[in-house]
Amino acid sequence: MTLHSSLSKQLPSDLDVQRLPKHVAVIMDGNGRWAKQRGLPRILGHRRGVDTLKSLLRCCKDWGVQALTAYAFSTENWGRPHDEVEFLMTLFERVLRRELKEMVDEGVQIHFVGDLEALPLTLQTEIQRAMAATQENQTIKFIVATNYGGRREIIQACRDIATQVLHQNITLDDIDESLFERHLYTAGILDPDLLIRTSGEMRVSNFLLWQMAYAELYVTETLWPDFDQHEFHQALRNFQTRTRRFGKVS
Ligand code: FPP
Repeated sequence: MTLHSSLSKQLPSDLDVQRLPKHVAVIMDGNGRWAKQRGLPRILGHRRGVDTLKSLLRCCKDWGVQALTAYAFSTENWGRPHDEVEFLMTLFERVLRRELKEMVDEGVQIHFVGDLEALPLTLQTEIQRAMAATQENQTIKFIVATNYGGRREIIQACRDIATQVLHQNITLDDIDESLFERHLYTAGILDPDLLIRTSGEMRVSNFLLWQMAYAELYVTETLWPDFDQHEFHQALRNFQTRTRRFGKVS
């Protein structure tokens, strides 16, 4: 699916621009099932999933969402069949190469978060190229979690901070939430306001464990390749019905 001309570039009139989530995160689940339902190989589900993600990114940009984070590959996904892992790594690389010019032109600032050093070197090169080419862009942040694990991220932050203490660059009293956040992969990026998970699973699956503290969760039965603009509209409508108290009383 590509962006059809019938899709709206305008924020739908039933949504309140003042109460849009600034940052939306997505767990793109259901690619394999989508393909299986059609008698296709799983990898075609992933390929279709890329089109869905591209449409969503464009929609977020058009409607004024400031950041979109997508969970592309978890630290646990290495346990998938070798061919599928290899396909995904090649897919990420190809998509980055193919889409970079458009992202530059459209003002997308791309970030990758995760343990990137374990990725194939050719993919690391494309990642560095894409981040460097888009770092001045301001229209929307697009964060791709690749070889990402929330627990690993937290452990890594603890190690960094412990090293700073050992080297006497900081003291124990300096450690607070704001310092901790600066040691996460997502340093400098606002926490997500809304987490969307497709295909009906009610789990966070080791995704942005620290950052999700006050995110609103929205789970839809729709499989990721079918998550279109209409579905996103529903998710935003639902988000706007929530009262966000952040632990306080309203
Ligand atoms: C989950 O569906 C999907 C993934 C693990 C891969 C998602 C990756 C993409 C859509 C590509 C994104 C590309 C870029 C460049 C960011 P699943 O395979 O777990 O589906 P299932 O639960 O039905 O088996």
